[in-house]
Amino acid sequence: MSETFDVVIIGAGPGGYNCAIRCGQLGLKTAIIEKSSTLGGTCLNVGCIPSKAMLHASELFDEAKNNFASLGIETGTVKLNLPQMLKQKEEAVKGLTEGVAFLMKKNKVKVFNGTGRIAGAGKVVVEGKDAAELSAKNIVIATGSVPTNLPNIAVDEERIVTSTGALSLSSVPKKMIVIGAGVIGLELGSVWSRLGAEVTVVEYLDRIIPGSDMEVAKTAQKILTKQGMTFKLGQKVTGVEKLKSKLKLTMEPAQGGDPEVIDADVVLVAIGRKPYTEGLGLETVGITPNQRGVIENNHFKTGADGVWVIGDTTTGPMLAHKAEDDGAAVAELIAGKAGHVNYDLVPGVVYTSPEIAWVGKTEEDLKAAGVKYKVGKFPFMANSRARCNHTTDGFVKIIADATTDEVLGAHMVGTGVGEMIAEVCIAMEFKASSEDIARTCHAHPTQSEAVRQAAMGVEGWTMQM
Ligand code: FAD
Ligand code: NAI
Repeated sequence: MSETFDVVIIGAGPGGYNCAIRCGQLGLKTAIIEKSSTLGGTCLNVGCIPSKAMLHASELFDEAKNNFASLGIETGTVKLNLPQMLKQKEEAVKGLTEGVAFLMKKNKVKVFNGTGRIAGAGKVVVEGKDAAELSAKNIVIATGSVPTNLPNIAVDEERIVTSTGALSLSSVPKKMIVIGAGVIGLELGSVWSRLGAEVTVVEYLDRIIPGSDMEVAKTAQKILTKQGMTFKLGQKVTGVEKLKSKLKLTMEPAQGGDPEVIDADVVLVAIGRKPYTEGLGLETVGITPNQRGVIENNHFKTGADGVWVIGDTTTGPMLAHKAEDDGAAVAELIAGKAGHVNYDLVPGVVYTSPEIAWVGKTEEDLKAAGVKYKVGKFPFMANSRARCNHTTDGFVKIIADATTDEVLGAHMVGTGVGEMIAEVCIAMEFKASSEDIARTCHAHPTQSEAVRQAAMGVEGWTMQM
């Protein structure tokens, strides 16, 4: 006989496990199915967490090697112990995935290790270790996403890798080519560049980080170039030839022109991710993903009764915090409460050094929409804390409505901006004006004063040096 649950969640990434926790808290009888042996999904196992562990360690390595002496710190020769760096990354992953398992127990969520498949209305079959047939009043699809491949390039996760392989390379490649100047390309390109690889980023468009503010993207590109990364923009990769000793990548200008061949030891393909719904039995409940494989939703409801969808599998940015918020909102909706996520205020952060962060509209968005706006900008070069810390690259830009002064967006590049963006998110959730931020006391000397100064800039009364 099949066990009956109020909610059966398929996939235990940030979307699924946060949904499960909230369901548990709301007293719903909940099961979660995960095909991997560990919980946490892409984010904890092969995404956010291991990449940030490698970014942190490689940044300290680079600091110790190149900047400590100028601060009066003598270390002798700084050497890389890559196996240890990879081990500390694995430890971070292990601690956090075990933490999720603990949270499932704490919130009385039953975990099934196996592959979940929808088998008609209200039915889910688990295949694998914890094989079972479950009855579900509500089914939540939280199966996440997988890397997009280029049709003519065969990934082997050793020499031609996705982000997963690039998080575990056993030696530092002499030359690395990254296809795609998006978030993964810049973060993982930075890791291996700091550890000694010669990194070339090949991008189809004529800019990096599409969707971000153009001025931020240009500044970030300049800084990363200064750090040693090479950018080849407006280039279409047509193939990668695998020779015994090296890889030969062929590209040609996206607008047409002569091909160019460059060689590498490792090629990282980072051209985006696509929703993962393979073998999920969507047809048994009449769900058809769109052309891009995305299951569309109406307040997280799919077209099928009692079937919900969250996280990377559905619309909105493919980000862990967005998936988490989706998960909590669905739990609340199932429990009869008012779950909601404001997709207009999902912040984006690229964890390069310095970081890149944004929320809300870009100038390009507003121009396209014909909205009149004012801009305030403040460079970290003029921020006293940044001067003390020698972290003067970058700026903060605040955009406000020309008539109402409501803050419409914030775009930053600089050390610590991934933390600083949160204050603008809160301000924008409360519909703050730029004057509200400008009149809010900020501690001195802090880098967050640059946010206040940028807001003062909108008002035309920036004060700090
Ligand atoms: P996922 O985390 O992909 O989880 C889906 C889970 O479902 C997986 O565990 C999968 O095994 C399981 N599953 C799939 N099908 C089935 C099935 N049929 N049965 C059972 N289980 C199934 N986002 C950020 O916000 N910040 C970052 O810093 C960041 N860094 C990243 C770095 C990298 C290298 C990558 C690749 C991604 C990063 N992301 C980051 C994106 C983030 O990882 C995703 O947005 C997030 O994990 C999406 O959560 P999710 O729950 O929708 O799906
Ligand atoms: P992305 O969408 O950020 O960037 C892909 C890049 O590849 C784009 O610049 C695109 O123009 C380019 N591209 C596409 N096809 C190409 C081709 N054929 N040749 C050359 N360039 C091509 O995707 P990415 O970096 O793979 O990341 C996937 C997802 O993971 C993103 O949605 C991102 O939000 C998430 N992620 C988030 C992180 C964060 O929040 N810090 C970190 C890493 C990933």
